[in-house]
Order: sequence, then C-alpha cells, then structure tokens
Amino acid sequence: MVAVVTGAAGAMGGAIAAELGARGHAVVLADISGRRLAEAADRLTADGRAAHPYRCDVTDRAEAEALAASALAAFGRVDVLVNVVGGYRGRMYEHVLDIPLDRFDEAVRLNLRGTFNLTQLFGRHMRERGAGRIVNISSVAKNGASGQADYAAAKAGVVAFTRSCALELGPAVTVNAVAPGVIRTSVMERIPADVQARYRERIPLGDFGDPVDVARAVAFLAGDDGRYVTGEVIHVSGGFFGCL
Ligand SMILES: NC(=O)c1ccc[n+]([C@@H]2O[C@H](COP(=O)([O-])OP(=O)(O)OC[C@H]3O[C@@H](n4cnc5c(N)ncnc54)[C@H](O)[C@@H]3O)[C@@H](O)[C@H]2O)c1
Repeated sequence: MVAVVTGAAGAMGGAIAAELGARGHAVVLADISGRRLAEAADRLTADGRAAHPYRCDVTDRAEAEALAASALAAFGRVDVLVNVVGGYRGRMYEHVLDIPLDRFDEAVRLNLRGTFNLTQLFGRHMRERGAGRIVNISSVAKNGASGQADYAAAKAGVVAFTRSCALELGPAVTVNAVAPGVIRTSVMERIPADVQARYRERIPLGDFGDPVDVARAVAFLAGDDGRYVTGEVIHVSGGFFGCL
C-alpha cells in the first residue's frame, strides 16, 4: 500500500506519515520545506519504512502534477491520500472586521487549494484503479471560531469539499475528514497562556491532544476498518467543538 501525505514535514503530517508507515504503507512525504522534509523521511527510513520525500507547493497546480507523476513513477500506485497542508499565517487572533483581504485569500488558498489539486489528481487515479482512500484535515474551527473567521471558513470548506467528493467518488474511493481540536504542535506556541487555559477548561477530556491521536484516526479511515465510512468527519478534540 502506498500513501501520499502532504505537510509531512510538520508535526501532524509527520505523525501521520509515521503511523501509516508503521502500518505497512510506503509513504510519499510532500512538503514545501525541503530541509525538514528530508529529516521526516530519514526518521521513517531509520525505522525501516519506505519513504519518498518530495518538495512541493501543493497549492501550485504544476507542482502538484509533478508530485503525482513522481509518486506514481516511484510506486506505480497510490492507495491513500492525506491532505494535511493548512493553517494560517499572520496574527493568531484577529477580529473579523480587521482581517485583511489578502489574509482571507491566503487562508482559503492554503487550506483548500492543495486539497482540491491533489484530490483531482489522485482521485482520478484511484477511481481508475477502483480503490482509494482520501482523508482531509479540517479543524474544530469549522464550527465557528472567534478571531479566526477566515480559517474557520476555509476549514468548513474542507468539510463541504470532503462530503461532495464522497458523493462523487464512491463506490471506489472513500473521502473523509478529521477535525483536530487543540493539538500539541508548534501552533501552541502562538496561543497565549490565558487562551490556552480557557481552551483547556472547555475540553471534556481535560487536556490537549497529541499529533499521534490525529494520526490514529487518519489510519482508521485509511485502513480496512474504515471500509464502510465515507463523507464522515471524525473530531479528535477531547470533546471540544470550538466556538470559543
Ligand atoms: N496544530 C493544531 O492544533 C491544529 C488543530 C486543528 C487543525 N490543524 C490542522 O492540521 C494541519 C497540520 O497542522 P500542524 O500543526 O502540523 O501545522 P504545521 O505548520 O506544523 O505543518 C504544516 C506543514 O505544511 C507545510 N506547508 C505549508 N504550506 C505548504 C504548501 N503550500 N505546500 C506544501 N507544504 C506546505 C509546512 O512546511 C509544514 O511542514 C493543518 O491543516 C492545520 O490547519 C492543526
């Protein structure tokens, strides 16, 4: 089995690549950051996994096409696509009335465009092969998040895109999303301590999550156990649904 994971040099993407590798997948790791990407791939190969690092801006169509060509040339097939690239740049919390238009455009581009590109490219391949799994990373912010209206809108878009693709790519391909809550990654460093405390109070399971928690949900959807699940959103959030 072969999996393509975008954003694989990041905390979440790296954990997802490692989890799928541990479950026997050869992993194509795609990321715009070449150096951290090589380190992520080295960690997999050190564990005896097949890893194929590929530097790529997934929002760029030509680069996404080159990634698809490279993955298929290397392995001949792709069974699983995990679209992890996302997030937002600039200030962590910005009132909706103050969000600059270019920041809104960037949020939509970063969270949706790469997912759209790769779903088209690998979705076509999967449908022709008659099998495939696509998992997109959304966020609990999709339910509404003050200070993050642009990001929230883009992550809600990821869910709408996921469900639309599930309708159109079945029965061969399942398409699902995972919506993480607050996960211990570098993003945490940008959340002020008082806001972290407010988040924690609202999490029924009492703590933030780890990247591996997200990775295990992705692996479920990508594996045999997720065979009859499509168009679904799994919240990995300790019971926290955003809307702070
Ligand atoms: N960290 C959290 O608490 C949290 C919560 C909910 C959702 N999420 C979502 O999870 C995903 C991963 O989050 P993370 O915390 O690991 O982020 P991260 O910033 O650590 O990782 C993102 C990775 O994507 C890469 N990247 C950025 N733009 C790219 C592009 N155009 N093409 C290719 N690669 C690109 C970056 O180099 C980075 O390695 C994002 O979609 C984020 O919105 C994160």
